[in-house]
Amino acid sequence: MKEFMFDYSKLPYGEGGRYSDHNRFNWRCENLLTRHQEIIKDKVVLDLACNTGRLSYPCLVLGAKKVIGIEARQELIERGKQNLQNTEYKSKMEFIKADIFDYLSSASPQQFDVILCFGFLYHTVRQVDFFREVKRLSPQTTIIDTNVAKNYLWYGLKNFLGKPPILQMIVENPNKTSDTTDDDGIAFWPTCSFLESMFDRINYDYHQIDYRSKEIKNWSGMEDYKKGLRVSYIGHRK
Ligand SMILES: C[S@@+](CC[C@H](N)C(=O)[O-])C[C@H]1O[C@@H](n2cnc3c(N)ncnc32)[C@H](O)[C@@H]1O
Repeated sequence: MKEFMFDYSKLPYGEGGRYSDHNRFNWRCENLLTRHQEIIKDKVVLDLACNTGRLSYPCLVLGAKKVIGIEARQELIERGKQNLQNTEYKSKMEFIKADIFDYLSSASPQQFDVILCFGFLYHTVRQVDFFREVKRLSPQTTIIDTNVAKNYLWYGLKNFLGKPPILQMIVENPNKTSDTTDDDGIAFWPTCSFLESMFDRINYDYHQIDYRSKEIKNWSGMEDYKKGLRVSYIGHRK
């Protein structure tokens, strides 16, 4: 039996990548999408920060009715379109060049069954706006995959019940195509307790994907997931 349904070393999305890049994408795709085909099949999926559509593609193959990919950088969209040219999936994929929050605020409630937010919630200062938009648009499911800050807090802990929800500021390079598009490079990394508090507030049930309990033997390219510095949540509307 094949280990993965999608092998990025053989897909155009993995072109030029190293073994660790392919292994990372194979496992991300497996845990975020393939093993949840029932969430994707026959559904309208919004893929935020879709880049080239590298994780939109598996949604198409898993039977999504339609995938709308939002990406700010046109050159990435062009590469994505190229990859789907001459495939049966071309007509089911719509790329839109837009800022995520401009797009979300223009969208209507119930327009999407699923909202994917992979690799973005640590490249923005607008985490709260994201959750507010999920609440307003009300998809059945939202799946989040993000870097997280750890809950280090050296004083004032007694003022909080449990683990305090925190956003930690960092400065990125906006010229890097994977990073924020905001000119000053400022972004926040959320903590897990921030993400969980926000899921509670928007009235979504959620669970974290436990990568360490999976049968991953080779963690090459996956070290951040292993250490809990990158996490994924599946949230369902109550
Ligand atoms: C780290 S990549 C994530 C790509 C893919 N979703 C994944 O998980 O592999 C982040 C993407 O977000 C895009 N991006 C960053 N800020 C954005 C914004 N405000 N609106 C739209 N796209 C944005 C970047 O251009 C980049 O392609």
